[in-house]
Amino acid sequence: MLKKWALVFLVAFLMTSLSCTSGEVKPPRLDLSTGWKFMPQDNLDFARPDFDDSAWKTIEVDRTWNQQGYPKYEGFAWYRIRIVIPSSLIKNAVLKDSLIFHLGKIDDFDQVFLNGELIGENLKNVPPGTKATDDFKNLDHSFWNVPRRYSLAVDDPRIKWDRENVIAIRVYDWGVAGGIYSGDLYLAPADLSEYVKFIYVPNLFTFHQKEIEKTLALRNVSSRYRIKGKFYLRMVDNLTGETVLKRKFPVILQPNARAEYSFKVPKLNRSATLYYRVKLQKSLEERVEKEGLPYILTPPVKSEPRINGARVYGQRPGKPFLFRIAASGKRPLHFSARNLPEGLSLDTTRGIIRGVVKKAGTYPVLITVKNSLGADTKTLRIVIGDRIALTPPMGWNSWNVWGLSVTQERVYAAARAFVEKGLADHGWTYINIDDGWEIYGQAREPKRKPNGEIRTNNKFPDMKKLGDDIHALGLKFGIYSSPGPLTCGGYTGSYGHEEQDARTFASWGVDYLKYDLCSYRKMMTDQNDPRQLMPPYEKMYRALRKQNRDIVYSLCEYGNGRVWEWGARVGGNLWRTTGDIWDEWDRMFSIGFNQEMAAPYAGPGHWNDPDMLVVGWVGWSEQLHPTRLTPDEQYTHVSLWALLSAPLLLGCDLERLDDFTLNLLTNDEVIAIDQDPLGKQALPVIKEKNIQVYKKDLADGNWAVGIFNIGESTQTYTLNFQDLGLSGKLQVRDVWCQKNLGEFTNTFRTVIPAHGVRLLKIFRPGTN
Ligand code: GAL
Repeated sequence: MLKKWALVFLVAFLMTSLSCTSGEVKPPRLDLSTGWKFMPQDNLDFARPDFDDSAWKTIEVDRTWNQQGYPKYEGFAWYRIRIVIPSSLIKNAVLKDSLIFHLGKIDDFDQVFLNGELIGENLKNVPPGTKATDDFKNLDHSFWNVPRRYSLAVDDPRIKWDRENVIAIRVYDWGVAGGIYSGDLYLAPADLSEYVKFIYVPNLFTFHQKEIEKTLALRNVSSRYRIKGKFYLRMVDNLTGETVLKRKFPVILQPNARAEYSFKVPKLNRSATLYYRVKLQKSLEERVEKEGLPYILTPPVKSEPRINGARVYGQRPGKPFLFRIAASGKRPLHFSARNLPEGLSLDTTRGIIRGVVKKAGTYPVLITVKNSLGADTKTLRIVIGDRIALTPPMGWNSWNVWGLSVTQERVYAAARAFVEKGLADHGWTYINIDDGWEIYGQAREPKRKPNGEIRTNNKFPDMKKLGDDIHALGLKFGIYSSPGPLTCGGYTGSYGHEEQDARTFASWGVDYLKYDLCSYRKMMTDQNDPRQLMPPYEKMYRALRKQNRDIVYSLCEYGNGRVWEWGARVGGNLWRTTGDIWDEWDRMFSIGFNQEMAAPYAGPGHWNDPDMLVVGWVGWSEQLHPTRLTPDEQYTHVSLWALLSAPLLLGCDLERLDDFTLNLLTNDEVIAIDQDPLGKQALPVIKEKNIQVYKKDLADGNWAVGIFNIGESTQTYTLNFQDLGLSGKLQVRDVWCQKNLGEFTNTFRTVIPAHGVRLLKIFRPGTN
């Protein structure tokens, strides 16, 4: 009887909601996006409901505190708000059992108190009576980008219904930017749809002849409710706007159950989006997600032999020489070289050149690669002189994938994958460990040996062996440290041990050092003063130069003090021009499309570094997810970085490379733009509301041109050659498709999906 009555009530409620919101059901919620107060200090008394915060300043929660008058503040800070939580919120809800605190994204850590009691910490609900500690500072800092959601049972004594409540949030920022920043803060009853999670199973998409197969799982994360409804799939062609396909699947999920949905969609070979929508019975909200459908533009790597990668390589005289000739084609390959400088020898089956060249000079070496199907010959210019990194370094770095959970095995696995998956055949060379290999600053054990030598933590049992193993594959080995006493992750830095660390790194076989400012900032009075920034970097440079090997030197200080203007003077081969990248369009866009100021300073041996690539499976921790950049955004990312002559450092799990990502990273014509020996960074020549066009001069006298659609919808665009400073009849090639498009007179017209690119090579008349 009671049940029947409840149903009648539910239907009546749904109907009233429907009628007064003209078709759109608005679930009840209490907005918390304004009204917060802020204190950039730490004191657990700030959690107390009776604490007097009347003197605190107000703050917005849709941007970090750095953007609101606290530009350099990092560490602990508190947010407080007073609100009445009306019981009508629950009375009007379908599920009446819990109240959800949606608190948006918080950079980096959070502890949330309700009326003086901790209710949640870094994404986890905590039971009543839990004491707040600082232990979370030892965790990987990977929460900054995850919306906080805490749930309390409606009868939880920490909630005061229909009375004033105080929510206090203790935020800890380890650096760069901090605070509550996504603006979407509210309280709401739980909705059934919240219990549905889309699970992107590891095998993202499988490419068949004419179709793409996809498996997506839905999980019911509730341990209480059964879920019933429909899962709607829709595929849209982004160039025409047409719906290509619609499907509908029933959803029935017992508590905690998971179900997989496999489907095939047509392979369009151009930009398309899949829209997923789950509508449940007894739910007021729909779960909607969308996913760009990967489309492969580059033809498969040919079986005929081809020499790829950099055409010029620099090394200093008398230093160990290691160069793996990047070459694709059906194995076995046979390598030969004419005019190798004295002191070098070539492994003819693996294409690895080793040795030591004593005499400075430029040596044009004629390399030939053969297999049963043919041969390819190209000149590699070996320059033995003062300069290294004559083309932007290409490789892998552990940070964007593993964060602080990096291990020796994971690093070696990346090296093996470079060879096994063929990336090394296209020029990918460096295998770099980022933060997290040292002893943690707050650990009890000694950070250094009695003689001062830096120790590795137990995740890196044998660094020398790791270096040797990486070199045995013909690849290069990179490491990370800080001029400060601690790294950004709180691990041991090189402060006071610069010479000794440089020696230790060299003894491990290190070929590349990323030197990250981090805690050194505490020793500076002005973080943007080159006079304070240069000395610690120069000190390490001098120490590196004393070693018996070449070590590419990467400065990481987030672009402070216009590092591009002086980075080369302190020995930098590359320098970060910005803060950290992450896998969102806005972030990649704001970094990539703002590199103009630094362009004049890039060139062979000294590169601007707009941070690493965020393609493939990333995560900054053990929890990985496929990049949130759409395929179009990924084409833009890689094209732009290549045009910018940026270092190309992958930060993804190489053991989980899908067909699309592998294809994206092995287009030799795109890589050749990045590795062009002229080393000239592209500049934007056209900047319109939705379109930006970048032009890069190439060593062969031709041009690489990227037409980027930075707008939110598909654009048809006519490129005027005059705007590029060119004219007449020009041969145009599509670089991603590796296809000549023909001759065009004065203009070139194209259609580009939202956030996508058309990457072209335009030839001087008579050169193609
Ligand atoms: C940041 C740096 C990142 C990564 C991290 C390690 O400062 O920009 O790239 O190295 O530190 O803790």
